[in-house]
Amino acid sequence: MIKDTIYNDLLVELKDKPNRLKHVIGVRDTALKFGKKYNLDLEKLEIAALLHDITKYYTLKQNKEIIDKHFEETDRIYKYYNKKILHAFSAYILAKEKYNIKSGEILNSILNHTIGRPNMSMYEKVIFISDYTEPNRTYDSCVKVRKISMNNIDEAVFTAIDDSIKFYEAKGELIPLTAYEARHFYRKLLEVQHD
Ligand SMILES: [Fe+2]
Ligand SMILES: [Fe+2]
Repeated sequence: MIKDTIYNDLLVELKDKPNRLKHVIGVRDTALKFGKKYNLDLEKLEIAALLHDITKYYTLKQNKEIIDKHFEETDRIYKYYNKKILHAFSAYILAKEKYNIKSGEILNSILNHTIGRPNMSMYEKVIFISDYTEPNRTYDSCVKVRKISMNNIDEAVFTAIDDSIKFYEAKGELIPLTAYEARHFYRKLLEVQHD
């Protein structure tokens, strides 16, 4: 089964990174809990979770080679996306090319797991929030978002994006426009929900 192949590859890829492996397993387990709650396809979620950080330790050169080959707006990606985020692009391509993943739900969940985007699918939201809140994450914002996610996943998404924007703004780092658009989208959505 494809998910067993991916899992075995992940063990090789992260053999010297036990904490990252723990994180990935934490994301998978958290995503499966949400998946049961929201009645989603658990295999899709598991594959997305196992692949989301599979290229986390690619060098900048490796990421650039993949991105240059497969994405058109490379200038925008390099200019506005912090180096740490590039793995989402390469993992997305690896999922397509190496593992022949065709499901848009899986692919978009991988591609958008770092900063989110407006109007995410349930799969994207689950992977995004599982990445942010899995049990090995202990900083304040994660604890807060984890709590919120039990009641309202959209509010959890909004809070995670809002906290991340504030965090990176305080450090003076460039923030992709998509992050602001996503925050705006979820702020508006919550206003409607609370009406
Ligand atoms: Fe990641
Ligand atoms: Fe992650």
